[in-house]
Parts: sequence; structure tokens; C-alpha cells
Amino acid sequence: MRIDIVTIFPTFFDALDISLLGKAKSAGLLELGVHDLRDFAHDRHRSVDDTPYGGGAGMVMKPEPWGEALDALIPERSADRADGSGPLVIFPSPAGEVFTQASARAFAAESHLVFGCGRYEGIDQRVFDDAAERSRVKLVSMGDYVLNGGEVAVLAMIEAIGRLIPGVVGNPESLVEESHEDGLLEYPSYTKPAEWRGRPVPPVLLSGNHGAIAAWRREQQLERTRRVRPDLLG
Ligand code: ADE
Repeated sequence: MRIDIVTIFPTFFDALDISLLGKAKSAGLLELGVHDLRDFAHDRHRSVDDTPYGGGAGMVMKPEPWGEALDALIPERSADRADGSGPLVIFPSPAGEVFTQASARAFAAESHLVFGCGRYEGIDQRVFDDAAERSRVKLVSMGDYVLNGGEVAVLAMIEAIGRLIPGVVGNPESLVEESHEDGLLEYPSYTKPAEWRGRPVPPVLLSGNHGAIAAWRREQQLERTRRVRPDLLG
């Protein structure tokens, strides 16, 4: 998979050089391009923002640098390609659809993602409208709270997507038994010692009875989901 990121803070993405995703990059499973939006701003101060039309607080990101950056990353007329092989362009935004494990799975099936990180009060609306004429465009939110910009949201999305790329996580079974993969929260985990600070590991886990262990884990998942996230049970 190829991922391109446009940002005014490229160093945020140095974090992608470490851990599993760093290894995925070295192994060639993930190709990453980080692009500084200011490289596409041509005035003396390389400015990327301006005051909002209609008034109001804060600044809005100017369309020209974004247009040039996306022109460089979206192959011409990719929306017209019969095989849909153009990139999926994702802008993190509190005004977008909420990112879930299902979104991570859908995005992980793409061959090319382009992330555009907004800052300030957002990006001039015409940037989205223009890009949508040439490619698939989505606004995606990390949840009902406000971040200072899209960078942290993109890091979170790339971590969730990257671990679903075949070969990135060593043991693919560990992807199955996790929170949200089956619509429930995950069960509690224990390791050695069998007793710690007077707290024993639940005896069923030491029983060697795989059927009983599976049933106990399922019950724990249901109990936890009912208590913490009843909305997931519908
Ligand atoms: N940018 C600012 N807040 C955000 C959020 N909640 N999700 C995604 N991008 C954002």
C-alpha cells in the first residue's frame, strides 16, 4: 500500500519509523510519502492561511497550495478510471463520518491513500469540491471532540489501517480476538505469575479446558460491553 500525507508539520510523522509500521516500511509493505504543504506556497512567507470570508474567528487554509499539492498526488482523471485505481483522499475533520474498525478495514483494502491534514479553522471548501471531481474524497472524524489539526488523527488512522495490511502483524490470529473486530470489547488478559499481590488469575484460565476458556472469555466480552458500551449491542 502507498500512503501520501500533506501537512504543515512533516515531523509529526517521524513516529511512523518506529515499531510495527517502521518495520512494515523497511519490509516494503508500506510506502510512505510525507509532503510539506508549504512547498506548494509560493509567496515570500510561504503562507498557507488567510482570514475567513464572511468574518469570524481564526484563519482558513488557502486553496492554492492545497490544489497544487493534490494535483501532484492525484493522477489525472483518476475518478474516470474503470478499475477505480485512483487514490482515496481522506481529510480528517470533526465534521466527517466517524472512523471505526470497519473504516480501517475498508481503507486497508485500498492500494493508495492520500491524507490531507488541515489546521486552523479548516480548509477552503473548494479544495474538497475540486478534488472530488478527480478522485474519491472523504471527511473522517476521530470522534466528537476537537483536535488542533489533522496530524494526530492521521497517525491514529494509519496505525489502525497499517496493522490490517497482510504481513504487518506477525500473528494474524491476534487481529481476530480484539476489541471491535467482532463488534464486542475484548476480554481481560492475564500472564504469569498465577498470583500477584494476592490477586489470583481466574482459575478457568489455568484449567486447560479450551471450551470452558472460550465460553468464559465470551461471557467477559458480553459483560464488559453491556457495562461500558451498551450502544454496541444495539
Ligand atoms: N481535526 C480536528 N478535530 C478532529 C477530529 N475530531 N477528528 C478528525 N480530525 C480532526
